[in-house]
Amino acid sequence: MDKREFKRRRKKVMDVMDDDCIAIVPAAPPRHRNRDVEYPYRPDSDFYYLTGFSEPEAVAVLAPGRSQGEFILFCRERDPEMEQWNGARAGLEGACSDYSADDAFPISDIDDILPGLLETRSHVYYAMGYYQEFDQRMLTWVNKLRTRSRAGVNSPAQFVALDHVLHDMRLYKSRAEIKTMSHAVEISASAHRRAMSACRPGMTEYQIEAELVHEFMRAGGRSVAYPPIIAGGANACVLHYTENAARLNDGDLLLIDAGVEYDYYASDITRTFPVNGKFSKEQRAIYALVLEAQYAAIEQVRPGNHWNDPHEAAVQVITEGLVDLGLLKGRVSSLIKKEAHRKFYMHRTGHWIGMDVHDVGDYKIEGEWRVLEPGMVMTVEPGIYISGGNKRVAKKWWNIAVRIEDDVLVTSDKPQVLSKAAPKGIEEIEALVGSA
Ligand code: GLY
Ligand code: MN
Ligand code: MN
Repeated sequence: MDKREFKRRRKKVMDVMDDDCIAIVPAAPPRHRNRDVEYPYRPDSDFYYLTGFSEPEAVAVLAPGRSQGEFILFCRERDPEMEQWNGARAGLEGACSDYSADDAFPISDIDDILPGLLETRSHVYYAMGYYQEFDQRMLTWVNKLRTRSRAGVNSPAQFVALDHVLHDMRLYKSRAEIKTMSHAVEISASAHRRAMSACRPGMTEYQIEAELVHEFMRAGGRSVAYPPIIAGGANACVLHYTENAARLNDGDLLLIDAGVEYDYYASDITRTFPVNGKFSKEQRAIYALVLEAQYAAIEQVRPGNHWNDPHEAAVQVITEGLVDLGLLKGRVSSLIKKEAHRKFYMHRTGHWIGMDVHDVGDYKIEGEWRVLEPGMVMTVEPGIYISGGNKRVAKKWWNIAVRIEDDVLVTSDKPQVLSKAAPKGIEEIEALVGSA
């Protein structure tokens, strides 16, 4: 992403703040996986959104109107010995030259410097409650100022939740963001095609995962956006299944929910297909119903519609279809009122997507579902899950689980399905599965 994009974002936040306000945004702490081993470091999305800086142990400060510069970055200093072990650091100079900081200070000096920056400000914009240790340090800095109030030292009167400002900004994707997200989604779509064509009965779920991850990395996406779900047969009825260790049986369906993260943006695609390349009659009926529900939901992703409209469209189609198939009994309108679909479709139809797979942004404004506007990106992912052993359902339906998920951009006109390169038509899928 271009440096100017980050600068625009910082300016936009500062435009919302008055000149006597300050914003403090810490980088996420590194996390341990097990003894001596850390998870690969991934900066917190809010921090990265404003800075483009990907090192740990950093704090960004936005101080509008500050004469020596408004964007201050606290970060690690250069240290040849440490860099020999753990890789290059930008250092203070790099923070200014490569990340456009107006001023940079060593992170080790933050206790001495930050209270002085807070002193002249009335409001502190800060997202409380995400990093406990940093919350505590914030309070210590403010208390330090309070104890000096009799010496005439000012301390900020209010904390303001930075999340509101920032998360609303992140909900509306810029042109550069849409371009990056489209690229992420294209990589994921290509990985789903690869997985479909490689799939054969007898393979394990993790061998299919290997096909996906191979394509993610080959195409430049170094990380998954979330742990992939590769769920054959009954495993697909477990909504958050991630063991991915079972063998794939001839005659079962395979549900794959997997997306790459590319340049800090997520993609999130689900496809379901027969392991042996041919839908059975019942599998086909459920698949066709979920697909119809998904098309109806996508149709509702239009400016002026409400967040809930796609979900309601999906529920309508699924309820009608389940009645037609004899899986629900009763009048469609009263079944919808009773939310009878929840026995088979127990999640909602989507979520915002962006730097985080379940992205930030309010779904309701003052108690009403949010109105969709151009630039918002959401997933549309209806599903039907019929667990085995359910005596009230004929055995022929057992362990059929289908979800179809696409990433959809709200435009000024028609919905734009960013993930359309991942096949979902029945004939297309049957032709592709096992063809490698
Ligand atoms: N893959 C997470 C989700 O679909 O929400
Ligand atoms: Mn999703
Ligand atoms: Mn998903």
